[in-house]
Amino acid sequence: MLTGEIKDQIRARTDIVDLVSTNVTLRKAGRRFVGLCPFHSERTPSFTVDRDRGLFHCFGCGAGGDVFDFYMRTHNVTFPEAAEQLAKRAGIEIETTPGERRRSTETETLFRALDAAARFYEGNLAHPETGRTARAYLEQRGVDGATMSRFRIGYAPDGWDHLLRALRGRGHADALLERAGVVVPRANGGHYDAFRHRVIFPILDLQNRPIAFGGRVLRDEDTPKYLNSRENPVFHKGRTLYGLNWAREAIRKRGRAVVVEGYMDLLACHQLGIEEAVATLGTALTEEQMALLRRFSAAAIFVFDADEAGRRAAERALPIAESAGLQARAVTLPDESDPDTFLRARGRDAFERALEGAQPLFSFGLALAMRRHAGTTPEEKIRIVDEVLPLIATVRHEVARAEYLTQLSQRLAIHEDVLRAQLRAVERTRSDSGPGATRSREVSGHAVRSVARRGAGGRYAAERQLLMRMIDEPADRARMAHDLLAADFAETAHRDLFGRLSQPDAELNRIRESVSSETRDLLERLIFEERPAVVDIDGCIARIRDEQRKEKLRELVARIDEAQRAGDADAVRALQSEIQRVSSAGGQAAGTTPVS
Ligand code: UTP
Ligand code: MN
Repeated sequence: MLTGEIKDQIRARTDIVDLVSTNVTLRKAGRRFVGLCPFHSERTPSFTVDRDRGLFHCFGCGAGGDVFDFYMRTHNVTFPEAAEQLAKRAGIEIETTPGERRRSTETETLFRALDAAARFYEGNLAHPETGRTARAYLEQRGVDGATMSRFRIGYAPDGWDHLLRALRGRGHADALLERAGVVVPRANGGHYDAFRHRVIFPILDLQNRPIAFGGRVLRDEDTPKYLNSRENPVFHKGRTLYGLNWAREAIRKRGRAVVVEGYMDLLACHQLGIEEAVATLGTALTEEQMALLRRFSAAAIFVFDADEAGRRAAERALPIAESAGLQARAVTLPDESDPDTFLRARGRDAFERALEGAQPLFSFGLALAMRRHAGTTPEEKIRIVDEVLPLIATVRHEVARAEYLTQLSQRLAIHEDVLRAQLRAVERTRSDSGPGATRSREVSGHAVRSVARRGAGGRYAAERQLLMRMIDEPADRARMAHDLLAADFAETAHRDLFGRLSQPDAELNRIRESVSSETRDLLERLIFEERPAVVDIDGCIARIRDEQRKEKLRELVARIDEAQRAGDADAVRALQSEIQRVSSAGGQAAGTTPVS
């Protein structure tokens, strides 16, 4: 394990400008260094390096981080690998325990066995006799020879122990082959081949090492159609995307990933020039997979089925994509075709045009619901609202939520207030945990969502200026933590970052490492963003207080409306005097702490 101390040592001994300079030509610009971003294609430099803080940030694609992040992304390695290599570069010893050494040799033998299996299958596909049926099948499906060898496609021969005997003969123990998932134990001892008479698609990791296999039947009566390796110490399904090893450069260059479902879809995409395609292998995308994609680009297009499964996939993907900071869009193909059949029938250009029609996940979900229920009768509208509100409830970003409610209200011609009330009901019935959890704060006993209005009133800018000040001037942090509460910030990430910066001796690197990816993005952005020459702290706080007062008034007005409709005269009077009090407070605070 790597201690925080060793990480700090590596950071201290690695000059980020030196490190980056091996990939990027940097020039000095004021306190910083700038160059062309290695993570997306650009003509004017938006890639910035802060030598003193040991951080980089790209204003174009949003990539950012420290020396470890830079090394991981440019060398496509995991954190432990990056740490080991950077430590070596800096002349720092990382001690390994005997347990770690044993695990690492076990992993190496497993990788060797997996590679031997991949080569066995490849050899069989290439064999003139043995591989004939499988080759004919692939050719009939349009897979050309170059694709077969590039993707290391293979064939598992028909029989119970071809692989077992071949790999035993090369010194791989049965138990190891079992761990690799290529043989299965028999009930009464012994083993047999897991894949028999199937076309084999090896799944490779980012260093092009086979870690698992998928096998497609060649006889229609065999089941299942696709058989996948069980998980093993180097293969975790939820953290793997099929094809990412071949797609990563194209994803970076094009600034987007195309996410398809199946093995054959992926092969068709790559063979026909959509090289930024990766496949989920038929399951819903996980958080880890999205975070993995996010390392290579900020945008992704999902190709979903045009049915109930597609809508559910969109619903699941929306909150995850959002928290990974991935701009996700979705598209369905006509006539229930999958990317493979579509590309083979209509070609690359038609597919690119279909991708251009991709819609943001929310609009996609809404469009599917509208298509299923025509949306004109009250019953149909109710069904659409019931389907779509849970989708909105998963969205944490306040601005996005407001935008989606507006869209829904316009499409269905239902008043936004009604939808908002219904949304609150949905949220109440959802548990307080999980992706659907809402962050609300209590005002006079009522949960009120604060909607951040960028621009309007400048509250958003005021919050950011205050946070920048706390980043730049540790000496001011205590005073600001005294004058403000986290709840005074309208945006979730602002609130979180304020909380962290308020802790005495908060160290930026420590904060970066312990917060959500959303907060971390915010912190990195604020470190690099241009700041005003003078920050008017009191002015910023006053702007926040003023917005809080307006928000409170809007809330009271809405409640008076409700009370009037309910015919509750006492409540109306009470609310009216409350409104009086708040409006006459003028510049005074309606929030949590008085303005001094
Ligand atoms: P599909 O059933 O859509 O198959 O499964 P496909 O990709 O179009 O396959 P072809 O074109 O008939 O060859 C999509 C993906 O779901 C996974 C596989 O990864 C498959 O590529 N799957 C499907 C399984 O894991 N097991 C199955 O039995 C079926
Ligand atoms: Mn198919």
